[in-house]
Amino acid sequence: MQKIVVKSGESISGQVQISGAKNAALALIAASLLGAGKTTFENVPKIVDIEMMLNILECLGIEVDQQINGMLTINPDSLKSLVAPYDLVKKMRASNLLIGPLLARYGRAEIALPGGCDIGSRPMDLHLKGFQAMGAEVVVEHGCVKARSRGRLRGEVVYLDFPSVGATENIMMAGTLAQGTTVIENAAKEPEIVDLANYLNSMGAKIRGAGTDVIKIDGVEELTGTHYSIIPDRIEAGTFMVAAAITAGDILIKNVIPKHLDPVSAKLREIGAEIIEEENGLRVIGRDERKATDIKTMPYPGFPTDMQPQMMALLSVSEGTSVVTENIFENRFRHVAELKRLGAKIKIEGRTAVIEGVKKLSGASVQATDLRAGAALILAGLAAEGTTEIGCVSHIIRGYENIVEKFQGLGVDIFWK
Ligand code: UD1
Repeated sequence: MQKIVVKSGESISGQVQISGAKNAALALIAASLLGAGKTTFENVPKIVDIEMMLNILECLGIEVDQQINGMLTINPDSLKSLVAPYDLVKKMRASNLLIGPLLARYGRAEIALPGGCDIGSRPMDLHLKGFQAMGAEVVVEHGCVKARSRGRLRGEVVYLDFPSVGATENIMMAGTLAQGTTVIENAAKEPEIVDLANYLNSMGAKIRGAGTDVIKIDGVEELTGTHYSIIPDRIEAGTFMVAAAITAGDILIKNVIPKHLDPVSAKLREIGAEIIEEENGLRVIGRDERKATDIKTMPYPGFPTDMQPQMMALLSVSEGTSVVTENIFENRFRHVAELKRLGAKIKIEGRTAVIEGVKKLSGASVQATDLRAGAALILAGLAAEGTTEIGCVSHIIRGYENIVEKFQGLGVDIFWK
């Protein structure tokens, strides 16, 4: 397995182009199964998670064609099977997003329960309760979710105990072809939910309220494939914003929606970075003096859990004591042990991490324990004296397109080994 090697970063500068949003793309690819005829997407990131999702579609008999320029065409009409293979599904949680579309359009879906993962157990009870409320029979047998509906699903009011992103997406997709109106209360409000609703509406769905905590979906008889451009990846953008802050650099981040980054920008400003909205992107200027701050991860528009590890790398070299509280996932501090190997001073108590900022980190060999943890280690490597070698990079390439090449473009001495 390859490693990523990062040499101590000077102030980095230049421009970086952000790819399409991984999490939006995964949901939209699943949603394309709802439409008759082909969908063509633009701005699809070329990353391993998307490749895995497309492999699952191909196993269902669906024709897919992904180009390197971000174009992806899916022909769901060639579907031959409603049973997703366990070997592929277990590798990727987002494959559970296929249940809603298959159930709504074909009345049946069988998907292996995605296993636990490195950041927590991640159940899908909220998804399943939603389908059941809409009239589906759902059983979990031998580690497999088997969902069936006699005729069309039924529009219902579904209250989510927690604003789960995946459950909101799955129930919203299921509701598009249901009979009557589905109402999701306490829905997730992430930008990826809005992107999914916009795509579904462009296929002929009738969805209102996406981006608020009540989403209403009037079921229609049929949806049709369309052409749609996916939003930029706010987490990739946030990662490069932290890169500017941690190296006292100056980076213009292109292909972003600044509003989606408000919670990240607010925290970076508190730490001491300057963020300027320019016509063609967000310019982030880091400073040598960085101040500690506190962060609590929350559902959108709160601070994203997917930026927590990267911010922790930054706080490790920010003067004073910072407190980071992880409210979304139960086990999302595995990067702490690795950051400590680089010289960070962090103590964990339950869901809280207390970070004493140090002047400099020092390079060492570390392991990416999950996708965002891996990104945090690259960032920490930029602020570390000497060389940092990051193993288990398969996690990183699941969600970052050309990450090494993009950092090289900013003048960083970083390479594959
Ligand atoms: C999505 C994102 C992930 C992000 C997360 C939170 C994708 C592909 N992934 O994941 O990058 O970190 O949102 O912003 O979009 N939960 C339950 N029961 C359920 C569903 C969720 O208890 O049925 C819990 C989870 O265990 C977790 C919390 O709710 O503790 C949030 O999960 P959720 O919002 O569903 O995250 P995902 O959709 O899996």
